[in-house]
Amino acid sequence: MGTKIIGTGVYLPKNVLTNFDLEKIVDTSDEWITTRTGIKERRIAKEETITYMATQAAKEALREANLSPEELDLIILATLTPQKRFPSTACLVQAQLKAKGVYAFDISAACSGFIYALDIADSFIKSGKAKNVLVIGAEKLSEAVDWEDRSTCVLFGDGAGAVVVTRSEDKSDILATRMYAEGSLEELLHADNCGYIRMKGRELFKVAVRSMEEVCREVLEKAGVKPEEVSLVIPHQANVRIINALAEKLNIPKEKVFVNIQKYGNTSAASIPIALHEAIKEGKVKRGDLILMTAMGGGLTWGAVLLRY
Ligand code: ACO
Repeated sequence: MGTKIIGTGVYLPKNVLTNFDLEKIVDTSDEWITTRTGIKERRIAKEETITYMATQAAKEALREANLSPEELDLIILATLTPQKRFPSTACLVQAQLKAKGVYAFDISAACSGFIYALDIADSFIKSGKAKNVLVIGAEKLSEAVDWEDRSTCVLFGDGAGAVVVTRSEDKSDILATRMYAEGSLEELLHADNCGYIRMKGRELFKVAVRSMEEVCREVLEKAGVKPEEVSLVIPHQANVRIINALAEKLNIPKEKVFVNIQKYGNTSAASIPIALHEAIKEGKVKRGDLILMTAMGGGLTWGAVLLRY
């Protein structure tokens, strides 16, 4: 019994904020942002709520999966910017989808949220507790950003991505996963008392490269797969320099590493499902390919998922 991705969807706000726009808000430059991060622009939600963005992404994924919302067993939504303290944003999406009888919850693992959620969905499917699971990563980070702090406000963006996974009998499967948490490193990346993102970027950079390399090696070994057998690496989009350093350490050529950070910035839990959707639509992934996903985020949390698409 395997866990197969049968649909993906995204929602990206129409409103674009470029590096040149940011030059007018804080003391920064397109040159600094581009060379330090790879980001050229990001989407900033105006009237869209996180529930709206997540629901739109979910509807697209369900359409592609050819499933009605009631055919789902479970909805898991990863976010660090929930619409309300409670109910969970997953419940708000469940209502919007009219997914009657489907249970739903949020998980909080910052930028690792989507792969954490996918790992949970895989466990539900493999234990026989669920057949069809909707996994969403959605963020409205523009509400969690201090627009006076140039060291963080240039990095983040809004958006949502969703996947539908199902129990399958064919070769498609989540082959290996490994998740980590280290709460003692909380101060490297956390929300302050006002809810704003605070980050020790330089220290986090090193931890991110090292941790993601180690956990990628761990899942590859667990599945008996060599790095060169991987068709595409889909890393969390936090910084193109982190992504390049990771690829180099894993000895995986750049062409096999998906990057779309230039368009969206860091969308935290939404970044991997958005990237996965685009990689599939651009023909960079086909059935049978091995995909390696990895993320590092606030918590600290990190992990990797190896799957056969
Ligand atoms: N524009 C111009 N100058 C800036 C800006 C800006 N937007 N931001 C900072 N600077 C200045 C700093 O003040 C500093 O100046 P100084 O040398 O005079 O003190 C200089 O640029 C260098 O600052 P650093 O922070 O050392 O720059 P660095 O090269 O480390 O890049 C960055 C910063 C992009 C944040 C990088 O460290 C990074 O990507 N870190 C990791 C991010 C990450 O992995 N996040 C994980 C997931 S996020 C999540 O979970 C929500």
